[in-house]
Amino acid sequence: MCGIVGYVGIRQAFPILIEGLEKLEYRGYDSAGVCILKPGRSYGQPGSMEIIKTEGRVSRLKSLAAGKDTIGTCGIAHTRWATHGNPCAANAHPHVSMSGNLAIVHNGIIENYRVIKNQLLERGYVFTSDTDTEVLVQLIDYYYKSNGHVLTEAVRSALGRCYGAYAIAVTEREDPEHIVVARKASPLVIGIGEDEKEYFIASDATPMIEYTHKVVYLDDDQIADVRPGKDIALTDLVGVKADVTVHEVDVDISMLSKGGFPHFMLKEIFEQPDCLRDCMRGRVILGDREEDNRIVLSALRDCHDRLVNAKNIIIVACGTSWHAGLIGKQLIEQLCRRRVEVEYASEFRYRNPVIEPDDVVIAISQSGETADTLAAIGLAKKAGALVFGIVNVVGSSIARESDTGIYIHVGPELGVASTKAFTGQVAVLVMLALALGFELGTLDRKEYCRTISELAAIPDKMKETLQTNDYIKDLSKIYTYASNFLYLGRGFNYPVALEGALKLKEISYIHAEGYPAAEMKHGPIALVDANMPIVFLATHHQLYEKIISNMREVQARNGRILAIVTEGDEEVRTIARDIIEVPSTIALLAPLLSVLPLQMLAYHIAVLKGLDVDMPRNLAKSVTVE
Ligand code: F6R
Repeated sequence: MCGIVGYVGIRQAFPILIEGLEKLEYRGYDSAGVCILKPGRSYGQPGSMEIIKTEGRVSRLKSLAAGKDTIGTCGIAHTRWATHGNPCAANAHPHVSMSGNLAIVHNGIIENYRVIKNQLLERGYVFTSDTDTEVLVQLIDYYYKSNGHVLTEAVRSALGRCYGAYAIAVTEREDPEHIVVARKASPLVIGIGEDEKEYFIASDATPMIEYTHKVVYLDDDQIADVRPGKDIALTDLVGVKADVTVHEVDVDISMLSKGGFPHFMLKEIFEQPDCLRDCMRGRVILGDREEDNRIVLSALRDCHDRLVNAKNIIIVACGTSWHAGLIGKQLIEQLCRRRVEVEYASEFRYRNPVIEPDDVVIAISQSGETADTLAAIGLAKKAGALVFGIVNVVGSSIARESDTGIYIHVGPELGVASTKAFTGQVAVLVMLALALGFELGTLDRKEYCRTISELAAIPDKMKETLQTNDYIKDLSKIYTYASNFLYLGRGFNYPVALEGALKLKEISYIHAEGYPAAEMKHGPIALVDANMPIVFLATHHQLYEKIISNMREVQARNGRILAIVTEGDEEVRTIARDIIEVPSTIALLAPLLSVLPLQMLAYHIAVLKGLDVDMPRNLAKSVTVE
């Protein structure tokens, strides 16, 4: 979703801003723009602003800028994911106030923009776009004019009148070495350059890693005044000074490149064995004897009593993270014998849900910035429940809003379609359920220790599974013809069926649905014919025989079956048209292996269709608006 980049300091801003936008491309966008501040002719003279905007990619913005004067050491830039108004140059950011004094880039939505726009229209303001953002910059301009051109105060006054979500960066023509930033429910990070001679601004830390690892995460309702050579001045919406806390970002620049793979998605699929090792490091402890195996989770130690005594466990998440949550429900119910509900965060937040102070709300999110999940956390906190975050991005809003939690530690995920985050989330949920179940006494030592050994073996088995990539690539050629797919699974493989279908539809634009296999007879079977590929998750686990029966029902109707099976399976081979083998493991770990062929299948079908796998149409990596 929209990306903000800003720079003020000693270097030329334009290349930093463009490279920053390129690093944020993974978030998904449909237009882009940049504003470079130009100093006045002599000291104290107002400068000017060079604004370049376009529909489409950053590469187009770069070509457009080729003939323009982009010299300057301060600027702001943006990639826009359209919410108000279609994607076009006029709606792209930065937006400039009618006076030409101010420019703004904005992520989020100003919900009451219509009311404010009408008031500004009455005062003679003229608008050139359909966006809520232009309304905000005009409102800031209104206060700027009336307060004697004090930008920070004008921003404060304007934001005091806005509802909704925002991360903004505002620049002024009169002071071309100054950026004011603010946030509410939309992420914003300030990077501190050497000796504070320069500052970097962005929606997440990726654009600034090359220059600095020292960052400040803005909290909700904070405004920061950023000037080179001066400390960041941080205040809240009423002007009270806030402390500036500097964090170190632990991301290596090499993690942000494709490392020889044609797409981030394929790289991330192949990273999964190493990611799971990272995720389990220091948490899965193998003893010399199996009975000495254990799981160590600091979150369980820190909030032991509240976790052990949890009355209900509610998992909130969206998309792929919600699918991981469905697996978490089965894990916790099976190993801990606690009732678990799994909720779409977007529904939960508006449903007046029953949350009690002794409940635990587990929020799962790769980005840690999903607006609906953040709002669900807000509700949980209000009700006094313990909020437990399972997050990838360190320092993200959900990580900071959670009372405790576990980072999945799979490294930056840049492909829009989530892959390694899903397996990281499932691995964390397995560890949590094992540790909690053992603590509660609902899981005996033998099963606890044996499952830990099986979990530790998963990275190697993932590596083995990834060797099917070439075979799946060939197989994909047969399946690109399809316009509908059905994915069916049961037990732990049911959420994997949902995830496989989601992966296919988001990057190949083929309609796909996931179902619990037995539900097929209650409707979807009507769709089955010789043109309809049906992917069965048929690994050798609980309900295997029943899955076989479901397959025979499809076979009887000429459906084309592609089955994911445990290696050595002979029976499914006689029913399915195509099979993909995965190594054997126990049922509760099956998703960690069976999802990999589905990720590869979706990837290869999309590539064969010539689609932009890493940046599928309409999708955003970090969904910071509801
Ligand atoms: C699908 C995908 C999305 C995200 C969803 C939640 O591949 O990536 O469905 O899972 O937008 O995002 P996070 O996990 O960042 O909260």
